[in-house]
Amino acid sequence: MTGLILAIETSCDDTCAAVITGAGEIRSNVISSQQVHDRFGGVVPEIASRHHLALLSPVLDEALRAAGATLDQVELVAATRGPGLVTALVVGFSAGKGLAAARELPFAAVDHLHGHLAASFLRPAEFEPPFLALIASGGHTLLADVRDHGPQLRLLGQTLDDAAGEAFDKGARLLGLGYPGGAALERLAAGGDPRAFAFPAAERMPGLDFSFAGLKTALLYKVRELGEPEAERRRADLAASYQRAIVAALLIRVRRALKQTGARRLAVGGGVAANGPLRAALAELGVELEVPPPALCTDNAAMIASAARYSKALRFPAYLGLDVYATGAQRL
Ligand code: KG4
Ligand code: ZN
Repeated sequence: MTGLILAIETSCDDTCAAVITGAGEIRSNVISSQQVHDRFGGVVPEIASRHHLALLSPVLDEALRAAGATLDQVELVAATRGPGLVTALVVGFSAGKGLAAARELPFAAVDHLHGHLAASFLRPAEFEPPFLALIASGGHTLLADVRDHGPQLRLLGQTLDDAAGEAFDKGARLLGLGYPGGAALERLAAGGDPRAFAFPAAERMPGLDFSFAGLKTALLYKVRELGEPEAERRRADLAASYQRAIVAALLIRVRRALKQTGARRLAVGGGVAANGPLRAALAELGVELEVPPPALCTDNAAMIASAARYSKALRFPAYLGLDVYATGAQRL
């Protein structure tokens, strides 16, 4: 493909648009984070949806402007179809379909998890399958055996309860940090002792599935046990120890999966992959490792454009009847 790919991502609370070349080079990657959900302690779908409506048009304009491109150069439009918040997804997905239809362009409906995976396919990394993938975000935590660039995930394990990002967010909330709390918890943890408290990493749970619910409860009980002034005084130690347990829980399963599959290459994606101590621990594994820069780990549209290169593009008007989906990764 010689033309450009324009992609939209609105699965949660970030309004994103990006332009990449057909060869996977990023020309622009615009992310507008809605800082309006903090006081509710989580994303409110209706509010996210309304903000996407207001932000999408300027974000799209900015993506084209920053790419130095016009719509005339766009050959393929893509948007996230799911999983995510339906009311949020529907804004970007409808806009993408509408934009494509107005110009009778082909349209690719992209799976969000395929997007996180496809961040590794972008230039300059161009990490090629086969590899083991760890996706750890606010909504998902999974291990997959990646054999090609396509959207079908061969799942090896996934979380049975909370996602790793959710564990970060819930821990952050308990420690009085804002939402989403992963990055804030990492900052607080930087000044604490990761060995001050022994939190569980579900290390005795066999197999490749994850579980973070027990960890969150352990933090809650520890905070109660310490009592308010002491818990407040030791916030950094609590954060560092909690973060250490999440990183350990992820690492244990990655090691097991590498052993089980014999894979020597690992790609990591999703918002939690922006975490410094996790990135450092992964670098010690001794395998060929691809962890995209933090801005390509958290939600963005460049990764959706990247996945679009390996998704089925439908011709106008075949895509007009497509709808979004809230859960499930294998609908394409
Ligand atoms: O991939 P993402 O942007 O959105 C979803 O698809 O969910 O991931 C968001 C999640 C949030 O839970 C956020 O707290 C977490 O990623 N996160 C982090 C860091 N940056 C974002 N967790 C730990 N450390 C970070 N630096
Ligand atoms: Zn995501």
